[in-house]
Amino acid sequence: MNSDLQKRIQEALANPQNLGELADADAVGTVGNSDCGEMLRLWVKFRQQDGKQVIDRATFQSFGCETAIAVASLATELIRGKTPAEALALKPEELAGELGPLPPMKIHCSQLVEGALRAALSPAAAPTTAPAPATAPAAPTLLDSFTQPKPGGVKITFLDAR
Ligand code: FES
Repeated sequence: MNSDLQKRIQEALANPQNLGELADADAVGTVGNSDCGEMLRLWVKFRQQDGKQVIDRATFQSFGCETAIAVASLATELIRGKTPAEALALKPEELAGELGPLPPMKIHCSQLVEGALRAALSPAAAPTTAPAPATAPAAPTLLDSFTQPKPGGVKITFLDAR
């Protein structure tokens, strides 16, 4: 990895944006890469704007890779205010934003973020139509997913190596 890219990644990591779970999220997507063991979960909250549903806020949690964390930090800022369709139209290199082009060995890091976004915004990840409880339980953390068995399990989508 060149030193310019490493510097931009370190700058993004010095002040990561939107890190942590979003307790009242409308959608959650979790993906994993079986090759490197990285996992990433993305929470999305929507709002209505001009008669359209747009992304009000997105947050993430990740294990491991600095590049995926840096991309997720930038991407969660980038998708704010976009409709789900606009967010889904973004390519991995666009999600990486100011990091610029990633080297071939790091492209899958941005694809992990893209995959989490797709998992969160796909119809299967849409919120149920059941009425929300008065006080919605907090969304589980990644650590919870691994340490606490859940009825029905957690849907983790392993991405194909590209
Ligand atoms: Fe695998 Fe970054 S090294 S997601």
